[in-house]
Order: sequence, then structure tokens, then C-alpha cells
Amino acid sequence: RTDKSNDERSVRSDIAQVEVDISTAAKADGYELMIGSGYRSAALQSVYFNSLASSVGDEAANQSVARPGESEHQTGLAIDISTLSYECYLDNCFAYTDGGQWLAKNSYKYGFILRYPEDKTDITGYRYESWHFRYVGVDLATALYQSGLTLDEAWPYLQTAQETLIKNDAI
Ligand code: DAL
Ligand code: ZN
Repeated sequence: RTDKSNDERSVRSDIAQVEVDISTAAKADGYELMIGSGYRSAALQSVYFNSLASSVGDEAANQSVARPGESEHQTGLAIDISTLSYECYLDNCFAYTDGGQWLAKNSYKYGFILRYPEDKTDITGYRYESWHFRYVGVDLATALYQSGLTLDEAWPYLQTAQETLIKNDAI
């Protein structure tokens, strides 16, 4: 989105090339996508949170917008994606657009997961967001896509795996 600040149009440098790759692949299949929101500072996240909270209250706002300090957008590894035409922009009808369907089916191949699925809102703590994708790397994204697990559900296993690898001097 060219009307957003340079900061918000940015992602962590580690995934800049992946961004190019996934956009190029989508375009080759006929879907033009754009980043609606990438990196956000805590200050910007506060603006978004407070803006919604002022109309619906803190608790309701927190179901769809993370509090500052808690948003994945602050890591530079999460992106809100839209079609270039703004069809269903930040609306869950995005899931039914051709671009949204392409992403849901193919994003894991580039290391991205649909982070807040419709049937896991109790587990993730956030409402369904068909546009919010989080980079976790191709291996983990593939495992999560194939298992249907969210990052939250896999987290305890990942921690155990890491502890075991460290204990065995494997990493
Ligand atoms: N909308 C997501 C939860 C965020 O604010 O990070
Ligand atoms: Zn998001």
C-alpha cells in the first residue's frame, strides 16, 4: 500500500526475498497481491488498538487487535495481505477471493501460515483473520499446514524439541 509509511510497508530483512518470491508466484498464477500492513512499531500498534478500543472497549478490541507489545507485526514477520483491488480488504470475505484462496493453499510453500484460523479462535485468542500471515519458515509452515495445528498448539512440542536438541549438543 503506497499510502502507508515506509515503516509499515517494511518487513524484516530476512524475509524480504521471500516476500518477492511469494508475490511473484501469485502473479504468475494470475493474482496480484499487496501488503496492507507489515512492520508496526509499538507506537503504531497503540494507535490501532486505542482507535478501536475507544469505540468497542479494550476487551472487545483485543479480540481483533493486539495490544502494543503483543502484536506479531512488531516482529516484522507478519503481514496483512490484500488483493490490489482492495476487494474484501481486511474482511473475511477475502478468504473467498481468488487471491485469498491462492494464499491459503500456497503460502506454506514460502514459509507463511494463516495465523488466526476460523476454527481456532479459542486457541489463538484472536478472531478469524483470513488476511494475516506469519512467517515461520518453510519446514514449520509445511508441518503446521499439513497437521492443521496452530503455532500456539505446536509451541510446547517445539520447546521440548529445542530443549532436547540443546541437551544433546545437537544445536
Ligand atoms: N490483528 C492482529 C491480531 C494484530 O493486531 O497483531
Ligand atoms: Zn495482521
